[in-house]
Amino acid sequence: MRVDVHLGPADVAAALRADVTAGLAARPRWLPPKWFYDARGGQLFDDITRLPEYYPTRSETEILTDRSAEVAAVTGATHLVELGSGTSTKTRLLLDALPVRRFTPFDVDEAMLREAGPAIEAAYPGLDVQAVVGDFQHHLTALPGTGGRLVAFLGSTIGNLAAPDRAKLLADLASTLQRGEWLLLGTDLVKDEATLVAAYDDAQGVTAEFNRNVLRVLNRQLDADFDVEAFHHRAVWVPEEEWIEMRLAPDGEQRVHIAALDLEVIFADGEELRTEISAKFRRAGVEAELAAVDFELVRWWTDAAGRFALSLSRRS
Ligand code: SAH
Ligand code: AVI
Repeated sequence: MRVDVHLGPADVAAALRADVTAGLAARPRWLPPKWFYDARGGQLFDDITRLPEYYPTRSETEILTDRSAEVAAVTGATHLVELGSGTSTKTRLLLDALPVRRFTPFDVDEAMLREAGPAIEAAYPGLDVQAVVGDFQHHLTALPGTGGRLVAFLGSTIGNLAAPDRAKLLADLASTLQRGEWLLLGTDLVKDEATLVAAYDDAQGVTAEFNRNVLRVLNRQLDADFDVEAFHHRAVWVPEEEWIEMRLAPDGEQRVHIAALDLEVIFADGEELRTEISAKFRRAGVEAELAAVDFELVRWWTDAAGRFALSLSRRS
């Protein structure tokens, strides 16, 4: 497997410092969700996908099981690119159906790519796997290949970005792809609050541990001393934004020293730190966001329960 690294350890370290400096200075405080995903965070996300409350993975798997042959028939794509690929588990349904010769998993988590890529290579002899370590908010203009590409962006990971960041990502993608190339986008749909909140606040506390993991990343990478267990997980539906917010809030005042930034941070009792948004979508909104950057919606599929959507669009 070949690996293109757009984001080496020094770049990752610099980006983390910049994000933590800006996010902790802001009010309310926030951190971007990409920092969840060290080896433990990737494993915890994998555990989340199997939780009874976390329906998105099962719903999207149902759609891919039913529709991958149609994706193949409509696109005839020979090169599959996957953004935020993680373990690429669901992607195998596409690889089984498409006449692909090349596969490009793209993720910020290099360790995950180095594990998942060779596993795909072993399962699909003859498939040319070229992984890209990069940030899809910065490095989409450097996607390998020309022509015949289908870019899959599954799991509703696009919902972890707010609308302006989604618009930029889709515009970057549109400028990279040629006319006639394809985007397969997974988007979780707006539904009742109880179902949504349960999906982000499971009974076993796996999502809580995933959320707190970002503090462990800061402790290790920035030599910080967060008392991780003092921070409580919250999942809140914000109706005006139609997104779930994950937050962490401490019991009692917390004084945190972040040695690598030479920074002292005080959290008041209960002061919330926002760690993730997970936007939920409606068809008209997805179609409009795609059309704004010249992607024409060609197919829209949901699971039988109507919880999750997969859309296929063509760069026009
Ligand atoms: N696509 C898989 C995994 C989703 S988890 C699925 O549908 O189940 C989100 C994945 O996106 C993780 O592997 C994480 O490392 C990656 N990711 C998050 N932010 C990213 C960014 N800014 N650039 C590239 N990858 C990112
Ligand atoms: C990766 N992403 C789409 C997940 C989501 O549902 O927003 C991350 C996640 N956060 C909590 N549970 C899962």
